[in-house]
Amino acid sequence: MVRLLNHFDIILLSVFLLLLISWVQSKFETSSNATFRTGPSSPSTVKYLPGFSGPLPFHLETGYISVNGGDEDPPSNNNDGNRDMELFYYFVKSERKPEEDPLVFWFTGGPHCSSLSGLFFEIGPVNMDQDGFDGGLPKLVLNKDSWTKVANIIFPDAPVYTGFSYSKSSPNLYVGDKESARSIYEFVIKWLIRHPEFKSNPLYIGGDSYSGIIVPVVVQYLINDIETQKYPFLHLKGYLLGNPVANMQFEKNARVPYAYSMGLLSYELYESMKENCKGKYINFDLDNVNCLKDRQKYQECISNICVAHITEDKYCGYAESKPPVINRRSLSAVTEVLSSSESALPIPGCRDYNHDLLSGIWANDVRVQEALHVKKETVKKWIRCNFNVPYKYDIPSSVEYHQNLSTKLGYRALIYSGDHDFMVPHVSTEAWIRSLNLSIIQDWRPWLLDDQFAGYTRTHSSGLTYATVKGAGHTAPEYRPKECYAMFERWISHAPL
Ligand SMILES: *[C@@H]1O[C@H](CO)[C@@H](O)[C@H](O)[C@H]1NC(C)=O
Ligand SMILES: *[C@@H]1O[C@H](CO)[C@@H](O)[C@H](O)[C@H]1NC(C)=O
Ligand SMILES: *[C@@H]1O[C@H](CO)[C@@H](O)[C@H](O)[C@H]1NC(C)=O
Repeated sequence: MVRLLNHFDIILLSVFLLLLISWVQSKFETSSNATFRTGPSSPSTVKYLPGFSGPLPFHLETGYISVNGGDEDPPSNNNDGNRDMELFYYFVKSERKPEEDPLVFWFTGGPHCSSLSGLFFEIGPVNMDQDGFDGGLPKLVLNKDSWTKVANIIFPDAPVYTGFSYSKSSPNLYVGDKESARSIYEFVIKWLIRHPEFKSNPLYIGGDSYSGIIVPVVVQYLINDIETQKYPFLHLKGYLLGNPVANMQFEKNARVPYAYSMGLLSYELYESMKENCKGKYINFDLDNVNCLKDRQKYQECISNICVAHITEDKYCGYAESKPPVINRRSLSAVTEVLSSSESALPIPGCRDYNHDLLSGIWANDVRVQEALHVKKETVKKWIRCNFNVPYKYDIPSSVEYHQNLSTKLGYRALIYSGDHDFMVPHVSTEAWIRSLNLSIIQDWRPWLLDDQFAGYTRTHSSGLTYATVKGAGHTAPEYRPKECYAMFERWISHAPL
């Protein structure tokens, strides 16, 4: 999920960042020991899960990794070097050959969306049975298109205050992109140190949506460690991202040409917007009355569109314009578990609502927390996407990280786009990939599943594969599980899509 920013002042932030950079760099060098202080708590194997009948037919482990992150924050924000963050994770072993199969760390976006979203609604071995919900504990059913059929996958709740992750010492840490990346990097290293049997598996870092900002930074840190021999054991092969945020301003702007290309705007309005707004559809000069008028017409055109998937029936997702007013008291008692953020309140019956509701009931159940070995009284209420936690958007663009990574020989990347997503439209992803000036090895062609068209793909000399997934929304595997599984399985096996 993407948390849409109401206001994002790039200029102020850039100045702020510039001022910070030298401070951060000096801080960075001396921080490694404090960062890697570790307080082990042993991982647990989970054999049964409430809601799933019988023993789990796959290996699930849960646990916590202690990280300290924090070193990149301004001193005013609890930067006492003692942040004691405990990041919770779910680890599912590959159902094929866990000792050889790739090891993937998979991050759900948000920021602050629990990794259960990825596990239950996208690529994990069980799905939440949404249709069979009867008001009791939601049921879990096997997902035959789970990516864990061919890969070991770790689903961390990160950064802190996501899902079951918490801080032992500071109740009000103010994290942002930089700290998030730093603590996720620390998580990866420590997890591997704790699981030496997986050190030689091919290592990938992946995720979707807002993870598009964080993952490239983490990969850059890992590559630095490989190059400097700090952690020579890292067997990093590359990274993969779905409908990734790379630069939110850029993605929001691309919604206009995307909306036109998908039949949501008239030819006349689009032509007029191009002319009047000069390609700047957000943050345009407010004195530009013609652009402002066009922009209002545009808002009307898209106001009922589901941003996570433009052809889904119900207005849902976290829309650019304000969602219809809902009277909270008219909702049933179970909505207690829902996030209370007004601007991000999903609509009953739509996917986000079901996800928040069902996963909230499940994850807040005391039997579930016992089964998962969640530490008692560490998280008051589990919220799938915890948008109420303050967050600093301090990496406005990850494009230059992709740029750097594309120059590193021997690493691979898969960037895929559900082509019906309005939040991060495929056209904006394609545009930043084009801006990297990579040479093309195999040009745009359809890729197939069972002789059916499944999307388009293109490969680049840097090792970057791009693919669209036909008919898929923001979290592509949720909408097109079979196609996405095939795409993942082929790519991770070094086969052409
Ligand atoms: C980190 O700790 C190790 C051993 O505990 C010590 O030898 C090393 O000097 C420390 N490094 C820093 C940067 O403090
Ligand atoms: C990209 O690489 C250059 C050269 O190694 C480095 O100076 C720069 O900081 C890197 N950029 C990012 C975003 O990491
Ligand atoms: C890509 O090529 C364009 C046009 O030659 C150039 O302006 C731009 O700086 C290049 N970008 C990168 C990342 O090399």
